[in-house]
Amino acid sequence: MALLTLADYESTAGSLAAWPPGVWDFLTGGAGTESTVTANREAFARWRLMPRVCVDVSVVETSTTVLGSDWDLPVAFAPTALHEVCTRDAEAATASAATALGVPMVVSALSSRTIEDIADAAPEATLWQQVYLFRDRKVTASLVQRASAAGAQAIVVTVDVPRPARRLRDIRNELRFPPHVQARNLAASTGRAPDVSSPSAHTAEAMDPSVTWEDVQWLTELSALPVLVKGIQVGQDAEHARRAGAAGVIVSNHGGRQLDRARPTLDALPEIRTAVPSGYPVLLDGGVRTGAEVMIALALGADAVLVGRPVLHGLAVAGKHGAAMVLGILRAELTDAMAQSGHPTLDSVDRSAIHPAPDPAL
Ligand code: FNR
Repeated sequence: MALLTLADYESTAGSLAAWPPGVWDFLTGGAGTESTVTANREAFARWRLMPRVCVDVSVVETSTTVLGSDWDLPVAFAPTALHEVCTRDAEAATASAATALGVPMVVSALSSRTIEDIADAAPEATLWQQVYLFRDRKVTASLVQRASAAGAQAIVVTVDVPRPARRLRDIRNELRFPPHVQARNLAASTGRAPDVSSPSAHTAEAMDPSVTWEDVQWLTELSALPVLVKGIQVGQDAEHARRAGAAGVIVSNHGGRQLDRARPTLDALPEIRTAVPSGYPVLLDGGVRTGAEVMIALALGADAVLVGRPVLHGLAVAGKHGAAMVLGILRAELTDAMAQSGHPTLDSVDRSAIHPAPDPAL
């Protein structure tokens, strides 16, 4: 069967026999009842596009500029841990796919390859480094310094993990990664291989529940790189991030993996957009699965979106080619949605481009 949608990639990845026990559930699942995982997706169903006609769409331009750099699509690879569980070449494969599609890759603090190796494997890639404000701030500082030296163009600080979430699938599965799966990027900054075989045990040990905006400010002053704060869900927190020196925010609830019952990111977006000055970068992730949904997020005020799980599905199905195919599908769908709705460029995609669906079931 031809794989034509991100849903096709998800179902194909899910049926692969090669997954170590519990790992598919780890990728797919979320916190508690997983209501936020579902809600992130369902929020998009509450909007419809408003097609304009007799607009010249003989050329459709999906490119955009974020933080001064040009992206071929308003889409980036979200930071997700340990790509080695999906494909042998791990983040080297992901970075090649991102380069092929002209989009940035956010490298997880818990990547299975070092930022130096990833940059070597894909010298043309636009890499952003994600970090946490670890209990040991020297580890955070080292990740930032190494990323800067390796040519990363921005830092993403994830602030929605004060403690391990109650991920029921992982608890029931007694999840343990196979020993070859290592967090080498973090190891290069801690000086020893951290034990990540149980993600929740590692989170409890490494993450700092006492983080405040002062710590975010410390991070923004640590290097010349712009810092984006990931995990913003309320307008006031976007304003806090901006005052702390952040160059932008990422509206995210960690793909529903931290706080069950958190509202969907798409619902939070308009409040956050209006809380910061126009032109201030606002990105969004959580549940984006089609090109039309990329348009909806942009219409509600996002400058760009990030995709998490779909990239992992692509990696698992066909390595770097699979990840590139997933992004290629989003590009094809976005281009088509723009043409069919009379938007030759992304500039004209504003609130007037969408309409609330009276009944999402219709
Ligand atoms: C994540 N996410 C995440 N975020 C982060 O800042 N650092 C990380 O290391 C990880 N790791 C991670 C692993 C896995 C398996 C998943 C699914 C997610 C969250 C990620 O960046 C993003 O917020 C969500 O995945 C976006 O939602 P979708 O696109 O997966 O629905």
